[in-house]
Amino acid sequence: MEQYFATVARGLEEIATQELQTLGAVDAEPGFCGVAFSGDRELLYRVNLWARLPFRILVQVASFACRDADDLYAGVQRLDWEPYLTPDLTLAVAATGKTRQLNHTHFTALQVKNAIVDQQRDRFHQRSSVDTQQPDVQINVHLYRDRATVSLDSSGDSLHRRGYRPAMGKAPLKESLAAALIYLSGWQPDQAFCDPLCGSGTLPLEATLMGLNRAPGLFRDRFGFEGWPDFDAKLWQRLCQQAYEGQKDMLPAPMVGCDRDAKIIIQARSNAKNCDVSSQIAFRAQELSTIEAPDDSGILLCNPPYGERLGRDEDLGAFYKLLGDVMKQRFKGWTAFVLSGNKALAKSIGLKSSQRTPVLNGNLPCQLLKYELY
Ligand SMILES: C[S@@+](CC[C@H](N)C(=O)[O-])C[C@H]1O[C@@H](n2cnc3c(N)ncnc32)[C@H](O)[C@@H]1O
Repeated sequence: MEQYFATVARGLEEIATQELQTLGAVDAEPGFCGVAFSGDRELLYRVNLWARLPFRILVQVASFACRDADDLYAGVQRLDWEPYLTPDLTLAVAATGKTRQLNHTHFTALQVKNAIVDQQRDRFHQRSSVDTQQPDVQINVHLYRDRATVSLDSSGDSLHRRGYRPAMGKAPLKESLAAALIYLSGWQPDQAFCDPLCGSGTLPLEATLMGLNRAPGLFRDRFGFEGWPDFDAKLWQRLCQQAYEGQKDMLPAPMVGCDRDAKIIIQARSNAKNCDVSSQIAFRAQELSTIEAPDDSGILLCNPPYGERLGRDEDLGAFYKLLGDVMKQRFKGWTAFVLSGNKALAKSIGLKSSQRTPVLNGNLPCQLLKYELY
């Protein structure tokens, strides 16, 4: 059993713990901006392939008391790096956190890198080169309360970058946050789903991938663990093969995304094409005021402009009132969720929310507001 840590956005620790447990994580415990869990190599690969909420899955190599640069160097040198990194492989080191005496992450990372390559030089008279773009082995060191935790980053590029969305709207949601909002909404694949302000389509796309049981990692070119000396290509191929075989072809209920900006809808369609779900989502260039519900009941989920990120170039209060009116008059029988980063604007919706869940969108504190529409 290895010790793993999935990094997630602040506020999503509990829901990410549930997701990881569903995937088979053992002893999953929410922490600060992450979830600690354990499991075998198959679990590590499966979580990278299937988890929709984490950014990275770190594999813990060591944890030791560390106050200053000497402790850090000595602690890293005590480890035997050969199983993880041979001199023919490239490396990069990323550092997070601090102690009183080690408060520059760049210096911390450099100290760790030096300790590793000095060990290689002593043993092999050769050392790994640094590659900050696409290293074979990405090492992560985290300092907290005079302890250093050294891990290998099994994901490489952040997992929220699924690989289907080169095209971006004006203020796109991160794919991982979109997935979290869908989980929080309780949407089930047999329900209709509508985002009337869909931008580049992140919410309908993530819901579609869930509904079709498509693994979010299948679109990515590469995971960090593929560069490791212990990479088990057969195991990885088996997991990918199983994921392909378990996919569904069709959603049983309507999946709709609309936006008044026709150019953004072209982007959303191109994203849908990239993940081969074009036939499953109706993306329409349509003004909010003209939207009709695509079914008698379902989940409406959207993140309207807050003003903060898109600029206050119009009367957002009137826009939020319109959103409330459309939800109330045209979406009877539905449950609506609005991600709001502005309390005053949320009030303009003019409906009573039945639940408010705090969520961070980047650094912006938001609330996911729930409305029962009947
Ligand atoms: C914050 S963005 C949504 C981003 C989206 N969730 C994504 O991930 O790309 C809000 C969207 O609302 C759209 N919008 C603003 N006013 C609208 C209106 N009256 N009717 C339809 N869409 C509108 C904007 O064009 C913008 O794309």
